[in-house]
Amino acid sequence: MKILTVVGARPNFMKVAPIISAINAHNRKITEDAAADGHGTTVQLQHVLVHTGQHYDEIMSGSFFSDLALPKPDVHLGIGSGTHAAQTAEIMKKYEEIVMTEKPDVVIVVGDVNSTVACALVTSKVSFDSAGTRPLIAHVEAGLRSFDRTMPEEINRIVTDHVSDLLFVTEESGLTNLNREGISPEIMHFVGNTMIDSLLALKGKADSSTKLDELGLRSQPGQNGEGKKVARYALLTLHRPANVDNRDSLQNILDGLQELGKECPIIFPVHPRTRKRSKEFGIDLNVDVDAKNVTCARQEPGGSHGGMTLIDPLGYLDFLCLMKNASIVVTDSGGIQEETTCLGIPCVTVRENTERPVTVEKGTNIIAGTSRESIRAAIRTQSQRKANVSVPMHWDGKAATRIVEVLVRVGTNQKHSLRPTLV
Ligand code: UD1
Repeated sequence: MKILTVVGARPNFMKVAPIISAINAHNRKITEDAAADGHGTTVQLQHVLVHTGQHYDEIMSGSFFSDLALPKPDVHLGIGSGTHAAQTAEIMKKYEEIVMTEKPDVVIVVGDVNSTVACALVTSKVSFDSAGTRPLIAHVEAGLRSFDRTMPEEINRIVTDHVSDLLFVTEESGLTNLNREGISPEIMHFVGNTMIDSLLALKGKADSSTKLDELGLRSQPGQNGEGKKVARYALLTLHRPANVDNRDSLQNILDGLQELGKECPIIFPVHPRTRKRSKEFGIDLNVDVDAKNVTCARQEPGGSHGGMTLIDPLGYLDFLCLMKNASIVVTDSGGIQEETTCLGIPCVTVRENTERPVTVEKGTNIIAGTSRESIRAAIRTQSQRKANVSVPMHWDGKAATRIVEVLVRVGTNQKHSLRPTLV
């Protein structure tokens, strides 16, 4: 059974790495079983990794491959940035050639970025023969809904789910949403969260990051590092177009953070989109524009944007280290809401909604809105909250294994009749 997996943008990499590991583990196991009893009893999985190149910088893509021990992509489409239409169309054109050459049995797409919807859509319409045979489409992280169609990701999620044949769901709200949209329950599989698989697998390794020391976030240093404690600090990420593509919105959010910045350092790894926009708006984030040079400009508490330390985007392990040691995280990311839930770190989400309601139900996340007053109020509430770990169902590090089990079941039962109608 040949599986083709698509990655494109930063949040895809940690979702795919555990799936590739689980595929490798499955293949190792059947080889061992075959050696032990003389014959393999289940299907061998062949894997092809396609990188669309939606994200292309070392800090947005390359470093994640080493941190997550991802194999080098078998195919790189080299798409790069563009408008939504141009980027999606370019991915579709180049990916169609690849899927027609590779002829996989299953295509796995993850998350909600433009690469996800582009490749799902192409796969849903290709045909390998006159009978209309095409690969099955498996969507990992299916069913999430913000109910906000101004978000490009919401459109990507809806379209991808509705052309997919297998839907792997991370939280119960996903099942409810898909049911409401009339999707057959038979194609839904509540498997858990592969991004959390990565987090649990690498949480320990993240302690080897030197970022806390580089950023001066240790207090009470003893000799040879003994007795060093981590200082209280906040971690901030902002990149949603709705927040950073508009001058007033961005300024409002920065103003909402000033009070927090007087209390503790705010570490802000600045996304390329945010860096670009703030420059255009003349908002001085004090960012080193050379993305490769990881320098930071510390502002004293009470400075124009509070005590903010602006750094370039971080690799997976460095970011995980800063996240797990933070006192509070302020973000507009989707995935970080989930990671902080798993780590029990209070999170303030600078958005009007979330497609990941389980993070709010578990109590670590507050949807703060985007006005300066509501951000301040949410930060005050979260600053008093004690660390609390109540992990959502199936976020146990085994989601990818469950996905591979489903794929093997499909491959074993239907190997010779993989058809779009399969459920
Ligand atoms: C994309 C995803 C978003 C995801 C985010 C994570 C879509 C619609 N959006 O948004 O869901 O949360 O990735 O980062 O798919 N740039 C670089 N280097 C890179 C990539 C981008 O400098 O490697 C710059 C370019 O100037 C580009 C801008 O960042 O124009 C935005 O990149 P783009 O891929 O369009 O969207 P993101 O905002 O990153």
